[in-house]
Amino acid sequence: MKDRLNELFSKAEEVIGSVEKVADIEALRIKYLGKKGELTKLLRLVGELSKEERPKAGQLVNQVREKLESKMQQKMDELSAKEQDAKINAERVDVTLPGKVPEVGNLHPLTITYNGIRDIFIGMGFEVKRGPEIEYDKYNFDMLNIPKDHPARDTQDTFYITDEILLRTQTSPGQIRVMLEQKPPIRVIIPGRVYRADDVDATHSPIFNQIEGLVIDKDITMGDLKGVLDVFIKNLYGPDTKTRFRPGYFPFTEPSAEVDATCAVCKGKGCRVCKDTGWIEILGCGMVHPNVLENVGLDSSVYKGFAFGLGLDRIANIRYSIPDIRMLFENDVRFLKQFKGAL
Ligand code: DAH
Repeated sequence: MKDRLNELFSKAEEVIGSVEKVADIEALRIKYLGKKGELTKLLRLVGELSKEERPKAGQLVNQVREKLESKMQQKMDELSAKEQDAKINAERVDVTLPGKVPEVGNLHPLTITYNGIRDIFIGMGFEVKRGPEIEYDKYNFDMLNIPKDHPARDTQDTFYITDEILLRTQTSPGQIRVMLEQKPPIRVIIPGRVYRADDVDATHSPIFNQIEGLVIDKDITMGDLKGVLDVFIKNLYGPDTKTRFRPGYFPFTEPSAEVDATCAVCKGKGCRVCKDTGWIEILGCGMVHPNVLENVGLDSSVYKGFAFGLGLDRIANIRYSIPDIRMLFENDVRFLKQFKGAL
């Protein structure tokens, strides 16, 4: 018995010494000390010994068990310390390495420009409204005083979904929708995408963006129109900017005007941007035509109003000296990344 125990002990000791992983120690514990383990088997044999031999043999088995347990524990401590060290080494973070800077995107130049314009009008008490891009012919044209045979339709050809439904050519139908929906006083801007059957070149695109404005109340005069647009343009281009109102024509306003601002680049002296005129055309505007008011059920002898419309793409391009409208739609990230910050 003693020999067998000694033999088992020295074999186990040797195996324990050669183990390299914590998990293997656990396997050894089962192999020797587990329920069906080798030492446990020897313990069972003790029962078959004579009464005199039994206590001594039992004691011996227990001694070997204790020794093995402490050897295994020792090895286990040693190995887990080693494994811990290896793990720490492998996962060590070099705090002196430059950090990974998350890529932060930026707003599109059109969005930056729109946000700036929107905030100027919100500052003057305007609300923002939106209309659908797929619009009724009647809202896009008829009710804006542009009947079927009106020549103004020629310059605004578009994609017709049916005879009555089209891709809107302007944000002006938003005026009709707002007036049908709410009673005056009305002070709104209506931004959005518009569509025209135009060929693409540096200054034309079949899809572009406009911002419409509409003010309706009793006692609105052309003085209000001039005051509001002058304040808008001075906010947009700086307090020294001058504005110029030229007579114009739009079917839904009477009188109508085109508004220029002194060129922000040369301050009116004349340069490449303003084609040496010193002026940049900013928007079209006018007093809402009585027919339009009557079309939406407003009494034109009681209510007056003014409207304006500007091309967002053009304003953004002038603002950022972008030479070609196509750059706004091509989504070249190298181009778009340049527009950090606000208007
Ligand atoms: N809808 C016009 C266009 O696309 C722009 C415009 C001009 C809108 C004058 C207005 C306005 O509201 O008063 O050419």
